[in-house]
Amino acid sequence: MKGGLKVSQISLILIGFVCASVLLLAYVKSLFLSSSVLPQNHVLQLSPDLRVKDEEALGEGSGSEQSEDSVNFESEKYPTYANSSPMIKVTEELITQEIGGIAPNITEKGDLKDVSDKKTGLIEQEIDVATAVSSGGEHSENFTATPERQDCNFAKGRWVIDDSRPLYSGFGCKQWLSSMWACRLTQRTDFEYEKLRWRPKNCEMEEFSGVKFLKRMQNKTLAFIGDSLGRQQFQSLMCMITGGKDRPNVLDVGHEYGLVQSRGSARPDGWAFRFPDTKTTILYYWSASLCDLTPINPSDPATDYSMHLDRPPAFLSDFLPSFDVLVLNTGHHWNRGKLKANRWVMYVGGVPNTNRKIATIGGAKNFTIHSIVNWVNSQLPKYPHVKAFYRTISPRHFFNGDWNTGGTCDNTTPLSEGKEVLQDESSDYDAARAVRGTDVKLLDITALSQLRDEGHISRYSIKATPGVQDCLHWCLPGVPDTWNEILFAQI
Ligand SMILES: *[C@@H]1O[C@H](CO)[C@@H](O)[C@H](O)[C@H]1NC(C)=O
Ligand SMILES: *[C@@H]1O[C@H](CO)[C@@H](O)[C@H](O)[C@H]1NC(C)=O
Ligand SMILES: *[C@@H]1O[C@H](CO)[C@@H](O)[C@H](O)[C@H]1NC(C)=O
Ligand SMILES: *[C@@H]1O[C@H](CO)[C@@H](O)[C@H](O)[C@H]1NC(C)=O
Repeated sequence: MKGGLKVSQISLILIGFVCASVLLLAYVKSLFLSSSVLPQNHVLQLSPDLRVKDEEALGEGSGSEQSEDSVNFESEKYPTYANSSPMIKVTEELITQEIGGIAPNITEKGDLKDVSDKKTGLIEQEIDVATAVSSGGEHSENFTATPERQDCNFAKGRWVIDDSRPLYSGFGCKQWLSSMWACRLTQRTDFEYEKLRWRPKNCEMEEFSGVKFLKRMQNKTLAFIGDSLGRQQFQSLMCMITGGKDRPNVLDVGHEYGLVQSRGSARPDGWAFRFPDTKTTILYYWSASLCDLTPINPSDPATDYSMHLDRPPAFLSDFLPSFDVLVLNTGHHWNRGKLKANRWVMYVGGVPNTNRKIATIGGAKNFTIHSIVNWVNSQLPKYPHVKAFYRTISPRHFFNGDWNTGGTCDNTTPLSEGKEVLQDESSDYDAARAVRGTDVKLLDITALSQLRDEGHISRYSIKATPGVQDCLHWCLPGVPDTWNEILFAQI
């Protein structure tokens, strides 16, 4: 009797122990997986598998010299850092600690399931891509969910190979495509990444067509407002609509929006083009912070700028009524270095910010995203024709360092980190939370772009500094084309 009890006790303990181990293992796996889906490279660096892989690919890390041009791939309107690298290092360390906003708790429901799916999925990957392509896609799957457009989560799905891609040639589209982003014009030799198409899981995504796009957007205006990743999406869309062919009849209507190059500046604040047959206008306005900037002392050329975290850019409030589709984004200018270099000072309620929660970079960014989304949402009842989207953050892929410490992204094998997005939630928690309960839609591209570390400009940028890679911007044609396909499916 007593001996029997002992045995069952031991069995219980053993079972308990096994369960605990399994749970612990799953939890640890979920940490690694989730970190590989998160957009910030600081987080990515935490993942040992990624690090090992990258070291293998690179051999020896290239100990690179710091140079000032290296610091800012987006040398757009404002100067790059004028300061010496020690300062930059310090500020970047600060950023590492402060940018927590995007990646809060990993243990959201569903993650454990994702791990197991992903593990098995990896083994089948080769075959799976092949069958998906040869069968033309959908047949092998059974859609239990009704494939209605509203119910679609376009962010969930997988990358497949499609020989009908890309939608335009990277040798063409000279009318709109910046040569620095046209990887076909660089030293790059692998172009497999151009053949990938995104296939949402539970819904059909309408095939993009320039003709259909223009027809749907007849007499209408689409505006991108955001940082240089927004500009990439703008250029991508212009190339997609035209198939990369010259369109001499497309009108430059920048002047209608005050988008003219002022004396002494390298380029205007944006561009606006109109397709005359359908009177479709596509424009881009450069607002890296997505908030209103005003000089603190207008008569001083070296003035600081108030960065009004709670006010939309003046351009947006001026022109919103004339837009039909609006796509907002921000993200990569939220770091101490850029704020300092641009002489931006955080303001809330028209006075310098004193709220310590907002004063951190992550806090300020989150506050701004919420503010702008709420403001746009408050305007929609007045302008019901406006469809507004907030585009989630475009992930960076600096491995073994950051943009200023020799970080690299020279993997050329597509989808080496997986090809599927299984999660229901966006990886950009700030953005997802901001649009919740509003009529602003989320253009969620974070997790699907996270799988595309091979798609960046990498070390092939035209004005490349040795040892410095652009793991922020994308080759075009490339990943931003997919963002536009998902956008097209929703307008
Ligand atoms: C993450 O989870 C832990 C424990 O479950 C909790 O203490 C912490 O507040 C959470 N953090 C966030 C940002 O939600
Ligand atoms: C697929 O769906 C059909 C009906 O919609 C059903 O009869 C069939 O059993 C399903 N197959 C699988 C494998 O779930
Ligand atoms: C576009 O505007 C023109 C007049 O400017 C009008 O005749 C035409 O019907 C409009 N088309 C659509 C689809 O709104
Ligand atoms: C982001 O900002 C909103 C609105 O200000 C706030 O409710 C939310 O708690 C913030 N999120 C984080 C993670 O601080």
